[in-house]
Amino acid sequence: MNVNEQPIGVFDSGMGGISVLKELYKIMPEEDYIYFGDSINAPYGTKSLEEVRRLTIINVQTLLAQNAKGIVVACNPATAAAVRILRSMYPGLPLVGIEPAIKPAALQPGHPRVLVMATPMTIKGRKYKNLMKQYEMDADIIDLPCPGLVEFVESGNTDGDDLRAFLEELLTPYLREIDSIVLGCTHYPFVRGVIQQMAGERVRIFDGGSGTAREMQRRLTAAGLRTTSKAPGSVHFENSLATQEEIELSRSLFQKNLA
Ligand code: DGL
Repeated sequence: MNVNEQPIGVFDSGMGGISVLKELYKIMPEEDYIYFGDSINAPYGTKSLEEVRRLTIINVQTLLAQNAKGIVVACNPATAAAVRILRSMYPGLPLVGIEPAIKPAALQPGHPRVLVMATPMTIKGRKYKNLMKQYEMDADIIDLPCPGLVEFVESGNTDGDDLRAFLEELLTPYLREIDSIVLGCTHYPFVRGVIQQMAGERVRIFDGGSGTAREMQRRLTAAGLRTTSKAPGSVHFENSLATQEEIELSRSLFQKNLA
């Protein structure tokens, strides 16, 4: 098979990376995709760095065994734990990770107040601390670890009363004092609508999905690996839980409107 016509591999600890897959498909609809959700091991954010690194390397190997021509690590803890190692393991492979979109939020005019929602592991990590340092002169940045939020999305709950109550308790103490929210976990764009409703239209919400998708597009183009097809590509879902329910949930999240 001509390498240009091979699929792009995308993975996450579970369903979250589908929000990044949607951004990839938006700008490169003619490419084929394989999406792997490691739901059996979700969440990654409460595991040790070594364990997340081990799982991430296995996920990449799984996608490469299926002829992926490039890999998107659509998971913040997996990116922090393993992207550097993966780049040295596979030097020629277009490989892109994700990080919280603090830069565009912090660089808005007027020294904005930015709330960063992420998993505890992302907020504790060195990568995140470095990112914070880079922009601390431009904005007031407040971290908000959100343990438990991934699990709502993993169970397909993106709009329930219990989810709303959970988010209200988490966000209410901050809503009056912030200008923007960064969704620092790929699961969170699926509850963006509820967060926007609570925060009001005044508050801008940022996530890293579109930046990651554009970076993959740049890398594939630079490597001469874009497909020559003009027809819409295919999207194939796999999940470590290997149940029909997980595949159906993946498909329905892929169809969900995230605006
Ligand atoms: N979707 C992931 C992220 O981007 C992860 C969560 C997790 O498994 O902890 O943060």
